[in-house]
Amino acid sequence: MNRREFAKRRQRLMDMMGEGSIAIVPTAPVRPRNRDVDFPYRPDSNFYYLTGFGEPEAVAVFTPGREQGEFVMFCRERDPRAEQWHGSRLGLEGACERHGADDAFPISDIDDILPGLLENKTRVYYAMGHFKEFDQRMLAWVTRVRGGSRSSGGLGEFVMLDHLVHEMRLFKSKAEIGVMSKAAEVSAAAHERAMRICRPGMSEYQIEAELLYEFTRAGCRSAAYPSIVAGGANACTLHYTDNSDRLRDRDLLLIDAGAEHDYYAADITRTFPVNGRFSGAQRDVYSVVLAAQEAAIDTVAPGRTFDDVHMAAVRVLVEGLVELGAIKGGVKRATEKERYKRFYMHRTGHWLGMDVHDVGDYRIDDQSRMLEAGMVMTVEPGLYISPDDEKAPKKLRGIGIRIEDDVLVTKSGHEVLTSAAPKSIDDIESIVGSG
Ligand code: GLY
Ligand code: MN
Ligand code: MN
Repeated sequence: MNRREFAKRRQRLMDMMGEGSIAIVPTAPVRPRNRDVDFPYRPDSNFYYLTGFGEPEAVAVFTPGREQGEFVMFCRERDPRAEQWHGSRLGLEGACERHGADDAFPISDIDDILPGLLENKTRVYYAMGHFKEFDQRMLAWVTRVRGGSRSSGGLGEFVMLDHLVHEMRLFKSKAEIGVMSKAAEVSAAAHERAMRICRPGMSEYQIEAELLYEFTRAGCRSAAYPSIVAGGANACTLHYTDNSDRLRDRDLLLIDAGAEHDYYAADITRTFPVNGRFSGAQRDVYSVVLAAQEAAIDTVAPGRTFDDVHMAAVRVLVEGLVELGAIKGGVKRATEKERYKRFYMHRTGHWLGMDVHDVGDYRIDDQSRMLEAGMVMTVEPGLYISPDDEKAPKKLRGIGIRIEDDVLVTKSGHEVLTSAAPKSIDDIESIVGSG
């Protein structure tokens, strides 16, 4: 992503904020894993979206109209000794030269400087509740500016920053779509690799290793979320991430995995037979889920709502469940009574972007939101028939299937970013075990 993209975002945000206001955007803290080992660092999505700055211990401040500079960054100073141990830092100069800050201060000085920036601001934008420790510091600075309970310190209203930035993030620019397409392509290749390599007797974690190998060698250094590699009935546990069982002949394998590229996520699910051949019952259920997914994807277009996509999938799933003998009664009644929820208990998709479950409202004025060009969503229907469901036909028990693609809303309809991941029965049967 080039610097102009970040500058444009900041300008848009500041145009919406208006003069006399201030926004304070901290990045994510470093999180300890155990003793003196930390989790790999991932900056906060809102912070990175506005700055492109990937180091921890940084706070961006936006003050539209401030004469000495509207974009102020607090970050770590250069420190040769620390850098020898932990890697290089951009420092204050880097924040200005490489990331477009007008002014930069050491993060260690924030207690002295930030209250001065807050003084007399008519509106303070801040996303309360994300980082508890930072919330406490905000409170202390505000208290100091007010200088006691009788004075306001010139401070006006507090406004949640989330809404403005989340609306911006919901609509993807050309550059963002380029980055997301790369994440999608790499992830699709990883799914294909997993299919080729899969054999009965392998462990779920061995398949996970193949996914991560493909992500990493393509330059995506992290998965966007923990991969789900679920053989057989493990697929009926929606967030199964143990990935520790052996894959059995004649079982299905559900893989939900996506790479993160430049802090943008892909999110793909494929389900295929471990031995490369669908059994009759597996084929029947798979065909229903695939038809539901295709119907839902066909619905994605400007002017349709988020719920339209869900209902398109539900319609096909319910018809299939009735035909398979899994639910009784007519399609209409089973839909109204939501009898399908025993087998399909999640929604058909979510927004996708820097966060896998990305930001943006799903409802506006209590109506399902209209889709618009530039939005990216997943379409991921599934059917999960618990092995313990004694009311379900025996041959279906223990089958869990989900098919998930990433879909961009375009002016004329949609584009499936993840279409390179095989999903037709013929393609799957010819690919699985071939590598
Ligand atoms: N991978 C998380 C999801 O599909 O929503
Ligand atoms: Mn998803
Ligand atoms: Mn997923």
